[in-house]
Amino acid sequence: MEYPKIQTALPGPRAKKLIDIDGHYVSPSYTRAYPLVVESAKGLWIRDPDGNVFLDFTAGIAVCATGHCHPKVVEAIKQQADQLLHMSGTDFYYTPQIFLAQKLAALMSADSGYQIYFGNSGAEAIEAAFKLARWHTRRELNIAFFGSFHGRTMGALSLTASKVVQKKHYNPLVPGITHIPYAYCYRCPYHLCYPTCGIACVQWLEETLFRTSIPAEEVAAIFVEPIQGEGGYIVPPVEFHAKLHKIAREYGILYVADEVQSGMGRTGEMLAMKHFGVQPEIITLAKGIASGLPLGAMAARSEIMNWEAGSHASTFGGNPLSCQAALATIELLEKELMQNARKRGEQLMAGLHKIQKTVECIGDVRGKGLMIGVELVKDRETKERAPDWRNQLIQNAFQKGLLLLGCGENTIRLSPALTISRKEVDVFLNIFQESLLEIFK
Ligand SMILES: Cc1ncc(COP(=O)(O)O)c(C=O)c1O
Repeated sequence: MEYPKIQTALPGPRAKKLIDIDGHYVSPSYTRAYPLVVESAKGLWIRDPDGNVFLDFTAGIAVCATGHCHPKVVEAIKQQADQLLHMSGTDFYYTPQIFLAQKLAALMSADSGYQIYFGNSGAEAIEAAFKLARWHTRRELNIAFFGSFHGRTMGALSLTASKVVQKKHYNPLVPGITHIPYAYCYRCPYHLCYPTCGIACVQWLEETLFRTSIPAEEVAAIFVEPIQGEGGYIVPPVEFHAKLHKIAREYGILYVADEVQSGMGRTGEMLAMKHFGVQPEIITLAKGIASGLPLGAMAARSEIMNWEAGSHASTFGGNPLSCQAALATIELLEKELMQNARKRGEQLMAGLHKIQKTVECIGDVRGKGLMIGVELVKDRETKERAPDWRNQLIQNAFQKGLLLLGCGENTIRLSPALTISRKEVDVFLNIFQESLLEIFK
């Protein structure tokens, strides 16, 4: 496939019929930005039931790291399906879970000093981290960030502070969590400028929060995304995590890096924390880990993962099919895809910066590898947010066969498969620019 092909009004007649049935039977809590029905997909290309073809820059919300239906991943799943579908890794042993744990432990650090808990999703990985942090430290308080997204189960939701609709009517949530401002330098919460700020957002934790309202020695963990995802693809300054981690260590607080979105090669490194030179005590993974099969993993240093048998488990976690898909995914990431993410990320960034020079409404372009955010503003001086333009851009792109998603209030998130080619980046840049200009016609 070389270019999107839109041959019906969108949605086409078949897609429309399916969307009508969906409206009757599927939960209305889901957020569909536009009426895309997916029939089949390969690499970055998606076909709908009416024969329309789209270029996918969402990868199913940063999940299909190896592209849709990568033949090696599909083959691994098929082979495993012939052999064993399920036996519950919490009660019995089987090779895919054992070998994946061994591989992940090696990826977490050179000394392989981590152990792995398996669940089915990002939220489950976070729940596991949340429970382990309490279990290990016997402390009740936790710290997380405004803008963060950690999932929607009650524990993960309690740590989340992204959009109020996600929390409305669900209180009371888990108590003892304090949210603090993230290092969002484009809109510094302290109205300071990097680097003269001295990373004031981290100092504030120790100099204000720990002195006035939260006893540091009662805090179990700091939950933090290396790069904030759902909150707007926000990249903190390079010293942010190291400074925060240092404070955490001084007070015996565990550093939980939520790599659910940023991990598994998306930023050009297996873990995004590598860009910041920090080795967290606990790491959560999901999304890209198994190229689309449900899998979540929580890695913790062995001395921290000292909970007893029966203290946490999941029937389906570490399912053999998901584990095989993950092993195949990791092989592809290590062989070529992380490197491709770096190269194509640079191409994408350069192209976006070029477009930024021609339009006033792109306030900020930021990211690492293939985790890139484009923030739209009404005015570059005032930085007034432009959520309506962002939403219009997404609709315009859809009509032209380019699939985009938003994040934060006014940011476009670019999270294509790590298999993306130079040509596909060019196609994206073309349609993106056209869709942007169309807002002002
Ligand atoms: C950083 C982060 N953590 C956790 C989650 C929750 O993952 P899931 O939707 O698989 O439960 C997400 C999902 O977007 C995420 O981006």
